[in-house]
Amino acid sequence: MQNATDQPLPTLPQRDAAAHKGDFGRVLVIAGSRGMAGAAGLSGMAALRGGAGLVTVASPVGIQPTVATYSPCYTTIPLMEDEYGIVDLANVMELAGVREHYDAWAIGPGLGQSEGVTELVGQLYRDVPRPLVLDADGLNALAQLLERAPQLMDAPAGPRILTPHPGEFARLASSAAPHSQEDRIASAIDFAKKDSSGNTIVVLKGQGTVVADTQRYAVNETGNPGMATGGTGDCLTGVVAAFAAQGMHPWEAARLAVHVHGRAGDLAADKLGETSLVSSDLLDFLSLAMML
Ligand code: APR
Ligand code: MG
Repeated sequence: MQNATDQPLPTLPQRDAAAHKGDFGRVLVIAGSRGMAGAAGLSGMAALRGGAGLVTVASPVGIQPTVATYSPCYTTIPLMEDEYGIVDLANVMELAGVREHYDAWAIGPGLGQSEGVTELVGQLYRDVPRPLVLDADGLNALAQLLERAPQLMDAPAGPRILTPHPGEFARLASSAAPHSQEDRIASAIDFAKKDSSGNTIVVLKGQGTVVADTQRYAVNETGNPGMATGGTGDCLTGVVAAFAAQGMHPWEAARLAVHVHGRAGDLAADKLGETSLVSSDLLDFLSLAMML
């Protein structure tokens, strides 16, 4: 097992002078629910700040107009829902029909928990042939699915990047949240090993976020407690997806995204202080963080 913490950080692909938006990938973010529209907006905007050429945010139809008004820079797709806010699977099948269209997918921020969401996550986990980032309720759904069928994680159709905070990790692994950094590293690696194809990357968040696959791990050194505020994780989801959509190897995309996300938090804290830092500040400082 290799400690890659001191290895040079990956770099973003250079932009050719004649480049067009198709060169920088299409990201589909599936996020949000009634009362959690902000999570969808934050993830979508973070994917744009991370450099994706085109970003589409798919949200339950009831909040789609709200998500659309957050930014003119991404497009939106309505997901059908019934009176309980459950995502309708027929609508999802339609999305699955265009699954080759997107270069990276992200699912989970603020999506809520329901059987419909759980089925959707299972279907995408198995079938999406491209990098798929799972966060928040995407991970809660995965935890449920793993209870029923632990083999789901083995050999998925494409790279899977899981970004749990310690509570989400505990649910996924059906164990207590690991506390010491040594335990966090060991637990993240063990979990990545559930996929024998080596296609799964675990990003165990918190101070000293651990990025691990089956071969190596790295501990992130940026970030600060000002980032302990709702929505900062949703921003990370978007940045990881954006880097993967630009063609970075999923391990490199995760590692660099965690670094620049923490750096954006550090720049924001320098300017604004840790106490009043809010998650949308990260969007404002991501640009600068990516230039350093
Ligand atoms: N030092 C460094 N980084 C930190 C610190 C710290 N002390 N505290 C938090 N962070 C970073 C984490 O590493 C992570 O990147 O801030 C981000 C917080 O992400 P989350 O824990 O996912 O928080 P948030 O985005 O608010 O997500 C809240 O997640 O539990 C789900 O759906 C639930 O709405 C909830 C959502
Ligand atoms: Mg979160």
